Amino acid sequence: MKRLDIIPQPNKITFLGGETELDESKLAVEISPELGNEEYVLTAANGEIKLVGGSERAIFYGKQTLRQMGRVSPSVIIEDKPAFPYRGFMLDTVRHTFSIEETKKMIDAAASVKMNVMHWHLTDDQGFRAYSKRRPEATEKGSVRKSSDFGRLKENGAYGGYFTPEEMKEIVDYCAERYITVIPEFDVPGHCSALIHAYPQISCTGEKIEVKTSQGIYDDILCAGKDETFEVVFDILSDLLEIFPSEYIHIGGDEAPKKRWKECPHCQKRMRENGLSSEEELQSWFTNRIIDFLASKGRKTFVWNESLKGGSLDKNAVVQMWMDRKKLSVDFANNGGKMINSEFFRYYCDYPYSMTPLIKTYRYNPVIKGIKNKESVVGVEAPIWTEYINNFDRLCYMCFPRFTAVAETGWTEDKNKNAADFQRRFRIYTSILNEIGITPAPPEEWNPSALDRVTKTLYFFSGLLHRKK
Ligand code: ACM
Ligand code: ZN
Repeated sequence: MKRLDIIPQPNKITFLGGETELDESKLAVEISPELGNEEYVLTAANGEIKLVGGSERAIFYGKQTLRQMGRVSPSVIIEDKPAFPYRGFMLDTVRHTFSIEETKKMIDAAASVKMNVMHWHLTDDQGFRAYSKRRPEATEKGSVRKSSDFGRLKENGAYGGYFTPEEMKEIVDYCAERYITVIPEFDVPGHCSALIHAYPQISCTGEKIEVKTSQGIYDDILCAGKDETFEVVFDILSDLLEIFPSEYIHIGGDEAPKKRWKECPHCQKRMRENGLSSEEELQSWFTNRIIDFLASKGRKTFVWNESLKGGSLDKNAVVQMWMDRKKLSVDFANNGGKMINSEFFRYYCDYPYSMTPLIKTYRYNPVIKGIKNKESVVGVEAPIWTEYINNFDRLCYMCFPRFTAVAETGWTEDKNKNAADFQRRFRIYTSILNEIGITPAPPEEWNPSALDRVTKTLYFFSGLLHRKK
């Protein structure tokens, strides 16, 4: 036997000949300053296992590899380190929410394949799910919607819930034990209907609106002209900073229609005062003001790629590319900025396998055309949005194997990746997911036939039209 079945595929394996028994009680661990922070060397031969890592984190990664090697392994030296420093997944707990125990299972799965970021989408039009002690109305009023009408998925009755500071801290601590950083997302200025429901005075019109019951992009966004908007946003961010120690905080910035800003005297005044010639420039101004606030607290900022449209995004922000036809993210990266890749047609896990087959996710190279310097792409992230996912089994079906494929892309050098071999190894790795309590999509669903690709994708999109109205 001269094969190891590990996900992510280690970057260098030297087979020494013969086999060895892996008895964890014989594991010798050492930290070496010669190795990088995420780099480890694992030697298994003659019944002895030696794990050398550049840090405790690297030792943890070596142990994840060891866990997948079973009881008997070929004798080997594994010299391993990641292709990208950022390897993440995003969980939307707004459209549907998941318990702390379920969330921990996702974290366990991520840790087992050496992912190191959980991006937690906590606020949106359909609910505000992060309790703020400075602004308790945000969840008291904004965490409940009257019903749910997501295409074919309709649920009568109120839907609500939020995470207390203690619960969020529990997730932060659980992640930290697994060397995963939690980056919370408070999405502004768009996707703020739930917040505006609680604080109507910080929208342009000042009118009360409902917490949304359907998916969509809504015109009512935070007013960039009113100072009170920033008071509320900074208060909520201040509370998040007390809970989340991450270097980066995500402030969204996606899908913010400019209709209200064009008509709003406060926003227009702000533009005149700051010499801004378009509402997109006003969004850059808005974003940079929050970036400055976070910087004053020692933090940096993540934004979705729409934040680039205004042209003057602070270079310290990291851009999360998801849908960037005009390739503003590439320009940003080529001019000293940093980006992570969450490309919609490859990495969004909420779309059916018929639209995004597993091999399409797996084969995608996140260092996209036009990028001059690989280092400007800090990594990859697989988002799962949950409009059409209202239970944990469905969440797991949509996310696995896709999260795992993105994890392998984040860790394994492109030259060491192989789609067929990944799919073979995933079948073996499934036993670890099952131990965690996760059931992935079965192999026959991963790469649908040409006919299924058309019919099932049409069926999915036709479902989105099934609104009550
Ligand atoms: C997004 O999918 N609106 C970032
Ligand atoms: Zn306004």
